[in-house]
Amino acid sequence: HKLRWIHRAAATGLVLGIYSSEKDEGAAQFTRAGDAFDRLVSGKLRELLSLCGPPLKKGKTRIFHGLHQDFPSVVIVGLGKKNAGVNDQENWNEGKENIRAAVAVGCRQIQDLEIPCVEVDPCGDAQAAAEGAVLGLHEYNELKQKKKPVVTPQLHGSAESEAWQKGVTYAEGQNLARYLMEAPANYITPIKFAEHIEQKLRSFSNVKVHIRPESWIATQEMGAFLSVAKGSAEPPIFLEIHYLGGANTNDSPLVFVGKGVTFDSGGISLKPSSGMDAMRADMGGAATVCSAIVTAAALNLPLNIIGLAPLCENMPSGKANKPGDVVRAKNGKTIQVDNTDAEGRLLLADALCYAHNFKPRAIVNAATLTGAMDVALGSAATGVFTNSSWLWTHLYEASVLTGDRVWRMPLFEHYKKQVTDCPLADLSNIGKYSRAGGACTAAAFLKEFVTASHWAHLDIAGVMSNKDEVPYLRKGMAGRPTRTLVEFAARLSQDSHNTK
Ligand code: BES
Ligand code: ZN
Ligand code: ZN
Repeated sequence: HKLRWIHRAAATGLVLGIYSSEKDEGAAQFTRAGDAFDRLVSGKLRELLSLCGPPLKKGKTRIFHGLHQDFPSVVIVGLGKKNAGVNDQENWNEGKENIRAAVAVGCRQIQDLEIPCVEVDPCGDAQAAAEGAVLGLHEYNELKQKKKPVVTPQLHGSAESEAWQKGVTYAEGQNLARYLMEAPANYITPIKFAEHIEQKLRSFSNVKVHIRPESWIATQEMGAFLSVAKGSAEPPIFLEIHYLGGANTNDSPLVFVGKGVTFDSGGISLKPSSGMDAMRADMGGAATVCSAIVTAAALNLPLNIIGLAPLCENMPSGKANKPGDVVRAKNGKTIQVDNTDAEGRLLLADALCYAHNFKPRAIVNAATLTGAMDVALGSAATGVFTNSSWLWTHLYEASVLTGDRVWRMPLFEHYKKQVTDCPLADLSNIGKYSRAGGACTAAAFLKEFVTASHWAHLDIAGVMSNKDEVPYLRKGMAGRPTRTLVEFAARLSQDSHNTK
């Protein structure tokens, strides 16, 4: 069968973007690369496309075989309207999002044809194109005997190769977080998580990784973190990363903190069994912040970053926290554990206290903290609770570029009273009006452990996984918002110590 034979012989696929026409009836408009390829095949591409019917809509594809000997299969993919820029209703750069989505679809078509190599049209923004390709092709394959064919995307043409490489690095960062989140909890235990990150950072001479054992956690008097960890047979780890990319090693660092619950069963306040497997991704905060630091190191960003990840499991057992137990955090505050499933804030309380030791310019923590965050925003955006408008602006501007959006949420005193009104201790680990404003009472709880004037808490529970909402991510754990964290760090490294 001739077509089959052509597919198998082909070494390289080509993905080309095409804009929809400005006016309804007008002919579709090629990108520069599309124009060049059409000239190479003496106008045959334009001819075939017009024969195929109306111009391609955004995200739709057509595939042509045998047009050119170097590219036996060419996928044309609709980019939507030309000159799309920042959409201020959507809070993102629509042109970049269109490119990511289109390139991802095109590359997957090449993968379905089992072609091992694909050249990608930069579509006027090689970084966005690379992100679309590398994010769009990623899949967790580790444990299946039958794997999807590996496809290596490359830039078509030689212009913009720096931007392309930057896009590959950003996307690989997010893919690292996706990998760690998707992997089963019996593969990514606290120690395995730490070793995986350490191995990714081994080649950088300006990075130091400390894998702190339980005994260290105990001497640090992290009683809240330890109380969660003790319910599991798997020992906890406190992962501490120092990336020293700044001009001076003693420049005040950005401190990232990530919730690292490698499995959250709920503990004695056990979760329902349906969908509980998703709680293997409850270390998404740790995964995204650590992956962002790996990426910052790969990009050689000129700033210092410290990464902190308290890692443990939340399990029911004879040693587990019981509802009503009182534990003492590193700063001396006592906490009544009214619900053992509100464990993330217990880990973070201690890690946030510890973060202040580094005299940080800013503390940013990420956590799959509350189901209520998912109820509030779904997967549209990460919720950001911050005491600093300066920090907010940087996070927000970063997210417009990356398309992995943030939305500001309140840290009102209103919520504080709902966690400080507690019968036995300084704080309760749940709000007194149970489910009302659950993401906000969790944030108010964390605030009790923060004295720094530039702190942001990112609740990423809603963006933890992707069904089909983000077109350039397959179904599965999303690794969001790793690229926004990287872009944020890049912006901070430009903002020379101005913390106003
Ligand atoms: N890890 C969960 C939050 C979560 C839920 C993340 C769904 C991603 C998807 C967290 O530890 C938790 O269980 N929170 C409780 C808090 C409640 C007991 C106050 C929740 O959201 O129900
Ligand atoms: Zn929980
Ligand atoms: Zn949790």
